[in-house]
Amino acid sequence: MSAREVVAHVTREARAVLEGAWVEEAGCCRPNENVYPHQWLWDSCFHAIAWGSMRDIRGVRELTSALSAQFDDGLVPHMRYLGSPGAFRGPQAGRSSFTQPPVFSHAAAYLERRGFGVPPAVGVSIARALQYLYDQRRTPDGLIFIVHPWESGADDSPRWDGWISESYENHRGWRYDSEFVDCTEYSSCGSAKWNHRFVVAPAGFNALTAHAFAEFGAHTKSKTWSDRAHELAATMDRVLWDDGEGLWSDLVIVGPDTSVAVPTLDGALPALVTSDASRAQRVLEQLEDPRRFAAPFGLTYTARDHSSFDPVGYWRGAAWPHLNYLMWLVAERWGQGHLSAQLRRQSLEAAIRSRFAEYWNPLTGEGLGAVPQAWAAIAVAFADATRSSS
Ligand code: GLC
Repeated sequence: MSAREVVAHVTREARAVLEGAWVEEAGCCRPNENVYPHQWLWDSCFHAIAWGSMRDIRGVRELTSALSAQFDDGLVPHMRYLGSPGAFRGPQAGRSSFTQPPVFSHAAAYLERRGFGVPPAVGVSIARALQYLYDQRRTPDGLIFIVHPWESGADDSPRWDGWISESYENHRGWRYDSEFVDCTEYSSCGSAKWNHRFVVAPAGFNALTAHAFAEFGAHTKSKTWSDRAHELAATMDRVLWDDGEGLWSDLVIVGPDTSVAVPTLDGALPALVTSDASRAQRVLEQLEDPRRFAAPFGLTYTARDHSSFDPVGYWRGAAWPHLNYLMWLVAERWGQGHLSAQLRRQSLEAAIRSRFAEYWNPLTGEGLGAVPQAWAAIAVAFADATRSSS
């Protein structure tokens, strides 16, 4: 296929994937009807970006619905159930008590940049959600903490291996999720506020929060949020930078700190917000280095030279469409034209080859997990960017 055909094909298929996943009465896409039959927060933010790339107003509807189950204290739940919940994720009937990375701020800014008016109520929800993270989820150092691995979005990341006493082989059948739920403490309105076994300030979650503060600050011309973005990015640089890996590690507040420096893309995400050009440069080099994260079909989640790297393993080294997108934002931010074009091209090819899979083998493009998965439609943002760059 020529480059033009690839773009046209991805645009057509992405629309079909989103249309097929759309639930009109809920105003959102299910990630996958059989495997993920509810609404997930960051998935919906990526769907909103994909709809926005296709100039479809459903982007605004999906973002609005993603924020609609917000708690009284401002936490936005990581799931809104579209049927029986299937598992216990806190004491509430219709929603989880946990959150996920606040990509909604970027999704809102993306939609606005494409000419959609985002309703003022969405802006109010975003402000409340960010304020919640700032007020209720800040460590004395000034970092943002999470209280369950789900909240990182990278549920089974090797960065959580320290919590598991068995070997990697044994924990392929990870069943710790529910045990961590059992150790959670909830606020009076039902949101998760603490965990007796797991409290961490992850590099990835902090980067996406600082990015959310920055985008919200820029959009609303709020000096307060822009200052908070700088402050958080500077704190990450001061507390989390790991010069040995050339990445940012996580800070453990409750739990063992034996695994949180494993080189994953989580540790590269702060390049989205750091003001330290030499650190960003070290990350960018690793994104182009086949010994670290570079692969023929996009970036590996875990660095290839780490012992836990597994190109087909769930959160072990497979490539993820939304992370390729976020790292593409990093390449764009630092003016890395070559890397940016490479990530665009690889993501388009991988979407086709994997048939819009949830994640894929970065060495072969073979689709893994749920197929199709709605967030793979984020490839249409690359199609859009390819069109406007040619
Ligand atoms: C898995 C992923 C999480 C995602 C969800 C729905 O739990 O780890 O990031 O939001 O699936 O796609």
